[in-house]
Amino acid sequence: MNITDEYILFIDSGLGGMSVMDMLIKKKCKYPIAFYADAKHFPYGEKSVHEIAGFLEEIYKFAISQFSVKMIVIACNTASISAIDKLRAVVDVPVVGTVPAIKTAAELTKNGNIGVIATKTSVKQNYLSDLADRFASDSNVYICGTEHLATAVEKEVTGDELQKLLEDDLAFFADKNIDTLVLGCTHYTFLKDGLDDFFKGKVRIIDSCDGVTRRILSLLSDSDN
Ligand code: DGL
Repeated sequence: MNITDEYILFIDSGLGGMSVMDMLIKKKCKYPIAFYADAKHFPYGEKSVHEIAGFLEEIYKFAISQFSVKMIVIACNTASISAIDKLRAVVDVPVVGTVPAIKTAAELTKNGNIGVIATKTSVKQNYLSDLADRFASDSNVYICGTEHLATAVEKEVTGDELQKLLEDDLAFFADKNIDTLVLGCTHYTFLKDGLDDFFKGKVRIIDSCDGVTRRILSLLSDSDN
């Protein structure tokens, strides 16, 4: 099969995963990309693990009825944390997930106070605290579920309206003195400037785009050799 017939299938609940896809495009990936934004079921951050597993499987079945899939990228932390293992059990292609870059944050923090923001469904599971225990045990990791931020990205909220939502959702960090913030939802990458204003440029903001892109490229290069 010609490589241009095999697609990398990106899945997210909406626009967020495009932050990862953009980076892959910039790295000149030679495979074509299909992006499935599951707008019908947005926000995943308010769905159950069981529901999300069903959505992913449904999307995969739809995709393979349309084209040949080389690899799946779950460009969504919530879906990766909730259902990547279930998806891997029913597909026969590599599945790359997206998880918050807590390990990187632990390497970069200067004062040992790290914030993590993610959707409610992600925060409800033990996954983030397990990551913190494994990779950032020397730091204080403060995990916060957000209410409005993924929706703010979908609705393209900016300016004062966005700052107000950030004040509401991030009040938790007021007394935490964080110097590093991990974005545990791919939508939040589109809020980097707003977050930077909110924290007055004093907090380093880290997403997972780079790590996920490197993983995709490394698996593709293994499969090409
Ligand atoms: N972009 C998704 C994530 O990374 C979730 C947004 C949502 O649907 O709640 O977690």
